[in-house]
Amino acid sequence: MKEAKLTSEELRREIERLKREKNAVIMAHYYQRDEIQEIADQIGDSLALAQLAAQTDADVIVMCGVHFMGETAKILCPQKKVIVPDLEAGCSLANSCDPEEFRKFIEQHPGHTVVSYVNTSAAVKAHTDIVVTSGNAKKIIDSLPKDEKIIFGPDKNLGGYINATTGREMVLWDGACHVHDRFDLEAIVELKKQNPQAKILVHPECRKPLQLIADKVGSTAVLLKFAQEDEAQEFIVVTESGILFEMQRKCPNKRFIPAPAQDAECQCNVCEYMRMNTLEKVYLALRDGQPEIEVDPEIAAKAVRSINRMLELS
Ligand code: 13P
Ligand code: SF4
Repeated sequence: MKEAKLTSEELRREIERLKREKNAVIMAHYYQRDEIQEIADQIGDSLALAQLAAQTDADVIVMCGVHFMGETAKILCPQKKVIVPDLEAGCSLANSCDPEEFRKFIEQHPGHTVVSYVNTSAAVKAHTDIVVTSGNAKKIIDSLPKDEKIIFGPDKNLGGYINATTGREMVLWDGACHVHDRFDLEAIVELKKQNPQAKILVHPECRKPLQLIADKVGSTAVLLKFAQEDEAQEFIVVTESGILFEMQRKCPNKRFIPAPAQDAECQCNVCEYMRMNTLEKVYLALRDGQPEIEVDPEIAAKAVRSINRMLELS
């Protein structure tokens, strides 16, 4: 791919022009860089991005998120071109669930319904009965018969949270996100002591002790809504820090404090995969029509059933 020598202003102008020329839509997750959230046509959590992809009449979807988000869009819209500006933008949680190992895990638990978090590869979704996101997981699990035996993968923290809030005993796959699993309880308790008025917002991919001290546990969209509607003026945000951009934009007069992670030296509250997409890569992707997401048709035909089940039940 050739280097583009354009200023940030020129990149923005070119992105606008190419978008119109190619009838493209730019979708971005809340963890994307600020400048990408600024130019996106639609911003959302992983549930909203799947719903928006299923409904769009654009010919090209530029999915500014990670690989599994592009795959989900492609599976829902096989006739459209789906581009992720950097195809290397993976996900440690999705990587923690190898499809072949997951298939064996399912075999070890006959008679179980298989529920998978959307943060999985298409191949894992092909082994799945119902996909969920952190935004609809409780609602979907609640809609299943009380005695239904369930396998849940790959996030053990989200799975534990759903077990605790629904009274289920789902069998959990032992996976986690390297960003959310690293937030440190003591550091957040200390932050709360320094900011006693602040309410604590926690993503369910974080560990249980953090979920227990939260004023609100939820997906990125749920946490954003809570921040907008709650009377509190200060919030400690225990999830990837990219969400602060939209929180601050929606609530300019409120204060959002990013949660520190275990190691103050590292930027542990940043998902390096999400940040791999840049304005320049969005421009190049639109200009060149690549890198395009491809999903094996046989895998896609199986995976689409579990994603559609989710969309029906959401
Ligand atoms: P949301 O479903 O809350 O957008 O989360 C996606 C994700 O990757 C969290 O790490
Ligand atoms: Fe995956 Fe975690 Fe990054 Fe979300 S924050 S995309 S779960 S690695």
